[in-house]
Amino acid sequence: MDIESIKIQAEAEIANTTSLASLDETRLKFLGRKGLLAQLTSSIPGLPQNERASFGSQVNALKNRITQVLEDKQRLLGIESVAPDAALTDIGLPGVSQVLGTIHPISQITEQICSIFTSMGFSVVEGPEIESEYNNFTGLNIPLEHPSRDAFDTFYLKNHKGTLLRSHTSPVQIRVMKSRKPPMAIVVPGKVYRPDAVDASHSFMFHQIEGFLVDENVHFSDLKGALETFARSVFGVDIAMRFRPHFFPFTEPSAEVDISCIICKGKGCSVCGRKGWLEVLGAGMIHPNVFKHVGIDSKKYTGFAFGMGVERIAMLKYGINDIRLFFENDLRFLKQF
Ligand code: PHE
Repeated sequence: MDIESIKIQAEAEIANTTSLASLDETRLKFLGRKGLLAQLTSSIPGLPQNERASFGSQVNALKNRITQVLEDKQRLLGIESVAPDAALTDIGLPGVSQVLGTIHPISQITEQICSIFTSMGFSVVEGPEIESEYNNFTGLNIPLEHPSRDAFDTFYLKNHKGTLLRSHTSPVQIRVMKSRKPPMAIVVPGKVYRPDAVDASHSFMFHQIEGFLVDENVHFSDLKGALETFARSVFGVDIAMRFRPHFFPFTEPSAEVDISCIICKGKGCSVCGRKGWLEVLGAGMIHPNVFKHVGIDSKKYTGFAFGMGVERIAMLKYGINDIRLFFENDLRFLKQF
């Protein structure tokens, strides 16, 4: 065989090779000790003296060419030919798995609570975190200079008079009741802000879920029924609920709602401060003055409202003892949810 046809044959065979094993066979066939190129070399002594040098260098060029094509192919088949790099491509090494994120526990609980209420017919609505003083206070029957504003200490915006970071989700009651006609049943998840010093149970930002329902003939028992359904789905069917009389300017009557301690089941332990009960939310029947502010006829319509802190619910449900864990983004904490 002449040099040119060996070259064509070698290139075609290497191009058609699909495995490293058959590539090795091809290498032996052309470059091996008894291969085609070795045969060419051994024919040199039989050539006329004046052809030997040029034939020899043509065989050498062919050898370099085939070596090059073999190396390229080997690289293509996934293995570096250079020995020290071989370890980098050891196909027996275990795979590097991708790190997957998880949904933040506050988002998980928020979604769970909202879906409990949407299954009862409530719709989810959101409102802005920058609110007017009117929606956050005045519309909710919390007049300026009234001592009840002290209970809702607030971040005011410096250069925008009459605006603030909402201190609860209740202002969304005002927005929705002004723009819709009863009947309505709404839940509002979102961030709220209060200038509290940060400690294990306080944060200047946290999450609330507001809920309210307005229709004809809405009674306190409707509120109790909705909240019982909520508490049993989140904390389990065997928990008890207790409504303690309380005061909120925007509801009358008002109540604070407790569940039986999920740790000691009411016997009294360190988590519930030996009381057997854990406070979970505030609630009541919507005050007629609130209806007046939004233009709803309080002779025809009644309604209930409630508001809960999402971090508090999550802490009770999962036995978390420090609210700061939610905001430090320590993966050792977040990965547990
Ligand atoms: N807005 C109240 C709070 O932040 C909670 C609440 C909402 C109470 C609705 C009654 C009715 O404390």
